[in-house]
Amino acid sequence: MNLNKNVNWGILGCGKIAHKFAEDLLTVPNATLYAVASRTEKKAQDFGNSYGVTNNYGSYNQLTKDPNIDVIYIATPHVFHYENTLLCLNHKKAVLCEKPFAMNQEQVEEMIQTAIKNNVFLMEALWTYFLPHYKYVLDLIASKKFGAVKSLQADFGFAATFSPNERLFNKALGGGSLLDVGIYPLFAALSIIGYPEHITAKASFGKTQVDETCTVDLLYKNEVNASLHCAITKKTKTEAIIELENGTIHINSRFHEPSSITIITENESKLIEFEVKTNGYSYEAIHVQEMILKNRTESTIMTFEKSRQLIKLLDTVRAKIGLSYT
Ligand SMILES: NC(=O)c1ccc[n+]([C@@H]2O[C@H](COP(=O)([O-])OP(=O)(O)OC[C@H]3O[C@@H](n4cnc5c(N)ncnc54)[C@H](OP(=O)(O)O)[C@@H]3O)[C@@H](O)[C@H]2O)c1
Repeated sequence: MNLNKNVNWGILGCGKIAHKFAEDLLTVPNATLYAVASRTEKKAQDFGNSYGVTNNYGSYNQLTKDPNIDVIYIATPHVFHYENTLLCLNHKKAVLCEKPFAMNQEQVEEMIQTAIKNNVFLMEALWTYFLPHYKYVLDLIASKKFGAVKSLQADFGFAATFSPNERLFNKALGGGSLLDVGIYPLFAALSIIGYPEHITAKASFGKTQVDETCTVDLLYKNEVNASLHCAITKKTKTEAIIELENGTIHINSRFHEPSSITIITENESKLIEFEVKTNGYSYEAIHVQEMILKNRTESTIMTFEKSRQLIKLLDTVRAKIGLSYT
């Protein structure tokens, strides 16, 4: 098996995150940003020109029909992830789809089953999982060097400019804090402790009826707990603090992106820094390429089960705060 084979990428949706991902893709060994697609041809041309891409399509459908593309990165608003992913998978294109994977468990399950049926790779772009500092923390916890986890506090809040028609505040586009940024503290709880036994949640809603802030408390066996918070109307520290039996790990701000950690024990406080030369999206892209070249339909890290748990937790929290998108 030649793991140095070139992989041709397509980008579907030329918005903000697509730019960051495209920048990183240019640094990934054996990756070619081969084509991009936008709903309008002019936008695709402009986006493609910025990265030296010549196959710039004015429709998502055209992109999926290009026989030279191996994998498509989906970077549209949440509500379109389901239909965009099915479109790609049914054209036998591997998919890396932005978070949240889709709007509910039923959609996620259909996406997974479609990937399996077509024997094509599919992964949710939970990029944090692949970052060096986060991997270090998970390995450290698994080593039991500081004993078992007792609690987690994690938050992600930023003050977005209110704009009722844009993705973050627009309910029709899946707006709100939980699905956009709350997914990271929830993901931290799942990856660090696992699926909880008991869930409580509350939220505050704004003029556009989306959750502008959300607080989630998770309870596990032996009184292990997680306190999670997110917001799109105020900046919060955006850090994760993991209390263990014999020490505390701080994943420093902002914990979900390339960052540092501080390990605090009775005798010392030790800062560990990690050198990351890209925006951080290169790590998930490298993993996706490896999986595709190994002919896998599922990631060994961000597995289907992990995506199922994440959307189940999001659905449960939504039910508790009374947030419905239908
Ligand atoms: N992993 C991360 O760090 C990260 C960071 C930010 C966002 N995200 C995720 O990435 C996704 C996109 O976020 P973004 O901030 O890049 O959004 P954005 O700037 O609004 O871009 C989304 C793109 O989707 C396309 N689109 C298709 N139908 C649309 C519609 N009806 N209205 C608006 N746009 C439509 C548009 O591309 P065309 O006009 O080219 O078709 C648009 O530029 C979200 O699901 C978000 O959760 C992830």
